Amino acid sequence: MALRPGLEGVPVTQSAICDIDGLKGTLTYRGFPIDELSVHSSFLETAYLLIWGDLPNPQQLRDFEAEVQMHRRVSFRVRDMMKCFPATGHPMDALQSSAASLGLFYSRRAIDNPQYVYDAVVRLIAKIPTMVAAFQLIRKGQDPIQPRDDLAYSANFLYMLTEREQDPLAARIFDRCLILHAEHSLNASTFSARVTASTLTDPYAVVASAVGTLAGPLHGGANEDVLAMLEEIGTPTQAGTYLDNAISNKRKIMGFGHREYRVKDPRATILQGLAEELFARFGKDEMYDVAQAVEKEAALRLGSKGIYPNVDFYSGLVYRKLGIPRDLFTPVFAISRVAGWLAHWREQLGANRIFRPSQIYTGVNLRSWVPAEERKTASET
Ligand code: ACO
Repeated sequence: MALRPGLEGVPVTQSAICDIDGLKGTLTYRGFPIDELSVHSSFLETAYLLIWGDLPNPQQLRDFEAEVQMHRRVSFRVRDMMKCFPATGHPMDALQSSAASLGLFYSRRAIDNPQYVYDAVVRLIAKIPTMVAAFQLIRKGQDPIQPRDDLAYSANFLYMLTEREQDPLAARIFDRCLILHAEHSLNASTFSARVTASTLTDPYAVVASAVGTLAGPLHGGANEDVLAMLEEIGTPTQAGTYLDNAISNKRKIMGFGHREYRVKDPRATILQGLAEELFARFGKDEMYDVAQAVEKEAALRLGSKGIYPNVDFYSGLVYRKLGIPRDLFTPVFAISRVAGWLAHWREQLGANRIFRPSQIYTGVNLRSWVPAEERKTASET
């Protein structure tokens, strides 16, 4: 069989969780269009939908919200461990380590027990935001603050992160961002989650491996680089020159391009609208004009190749307006994507076969070991 680098176009599993039409620019979770969910749903309801397959009834939603609220706190042992992390370390590395550490506390590998599965889902969704916020305060030399039970999921995260209660509009827009990032089929981190799940390890290891994969600049890490790029461009009039230079030097434009979409990512369109809502209420980010100029100029240069803004292009501007530090953009992505990873974990377990692809060997032919003194150096051969 011919090698397909990056597995492009190669189906490796069946999935009923999410569907993307990369030509039309549409995205559905369990059949529901992302545009509808991002307006009408909440992140916890969407997470429930993704993981359990259907929208919860009112009682199921209340129970799920209450369980998540009850499990938001993390053990003092996890907090103490995080205090030993270097303050200069990247928050994604802190998150990967702390997510993996949950396995020390809760792993029984009872993955065929529905109660264990439900509890693991609740714990991961509840505790990951707390750990992201905790590292932010710890690295500033402060003690993490406890979750507030009177605040809903997103409002509570922003409170734990910024130490003040945010405007309800800001909390709702953040919740909508979480909905938009919750799932996106078999991208690199979700594939990583499914490969790890296929070994029947515990869900904390599944999520930790996915967090490590999401951290890379070609995947979730791109949203940090987008703001740096906009700042480097500086003014809207410089956008065209910057793009010409980058394209002639074969540098990728961060926040552009996608393996699936050949048109503008529908999430980028919604995020751009959210950015505008935030700017109307709290003041404009000066980089927004630069971003719009980059989008316009890039369409002229890269549009024919099907390269348009992806989810990362406008999310950084939204997060910055919400007071989220730049190196937390990807951990925030992980807070949301844990829903998708867990949905894929459950689906993988439902019809599991361990992932074990093949390779095309390109190394040297069979040879024999020789003692060190008889080995020739490169110049002798
Ligand atoms: N800027 C300029 N050119 C691009 C870009 C870009 N952002 N993305 C793709 N291209 C070009 C490539 O140079 C290549 O051109 P060529 O055929 O003339 O050599 C062609 O488009 C195909 O590119 P690939 O890198 O092979 O496409 P692939 O599907 O492997 O990559 C990826 C997708 C990784 C997202 C890529 O578009 C990229 O690196 N984008 C920038 C990083 C980024 O924004 N990542 C976030 C993605 S969304 C997410 O993960 C949450």
